[in-house]
Amino acid sequence: MKIIITSNAKEMGEKAADLIVKEIKNKPSLALGLATGKTMIPFYKALIKRFKEDKVNMSYVKVFQLDEYIGLSGKNKRSFQFFLKKHFLVPVNIPGKNIHFLNGNAKNLRKECKKYEKEIKKARDIDVQILGIGRNGHMGFNEPFSSFNSETRKVTLSDITRKDNAQFFNNRHKKAPKRALTMGIKTMNMSKKIILLAFGKNKAGIIHRALHGAIDEEIPASVLQKHKSLTVVIDKAAASELD
Ligand code: GLP
Repeated sequence: MKIIITSNAKEMGEKAADLIVKEIKNKPSLALGLATGKTMIPFYKALIKRFKEDKVNMSYVKVFQLDEYIGLSGKNKRSFQFFLKKHFLVPVNIPGKNIHFLNGNAKNLRKECKKYEKEIKKARDIDVQILGIGRNGHMGFNEPFSSFNSETRKVTLSDITRKDNAQFFNNRHKKAPKRALTMGIKTMNMSKKIILLAFGKNKAGIIHRALHGAIDEEIPASVLQKHKSLTVVIDKAAASELD
């Protein structure tokens, strides 16, 4: 595991964007797994900046969405699909044919998850998966006690996750969806490289627990300790409880 500590969130985004630019230069058709949430904003901003400065060509990059709320269509402003389009995919012109969304509004959700797993396999697994972390250690929407062997599936969200995500639902936690689709822990762990991002003091405790605590399903992100290529990019506030 490699840990890069930055002075602030902006620098976290820049460091991570530089890593991705390097990956795309090595492999223009990189399969990139994308996360949502406020942690991702400085990262996407930095990547867009590099794209606009002509430092990277994204026309061949393939993207995979990490998770999505059930019942929200891609047109819904609160869907993760909408978030990804707005904060990244549209500004960098990723061609539609290279975008793999998880449709939380599909009629048959089980089929949708199976289809998604196949799409990932067809791309020969994700090359680089970007991840954030929830305060309870969730990754994507793999909540505590999700099996390390899980694949893409339907899940029920914990109360703490719904409270945190209320920021996108006019701060009304009861309005935040209760169910979601998420890439499984096994699925994301198959990614060749993983980059975990976090900033802020409220992530310090969970970053310490996930990276240095016991590896168990109670803390989904603890599984990352076993990954063969994990890079953690966090600001000094999120790193403040590391030994
Ligand atoms: C959501 C997403 C996760 C994300 C987490 C942290 O629950 N499903 O993928 O990592 O929130 O979000 P934030 O970056 O807003 O703290």
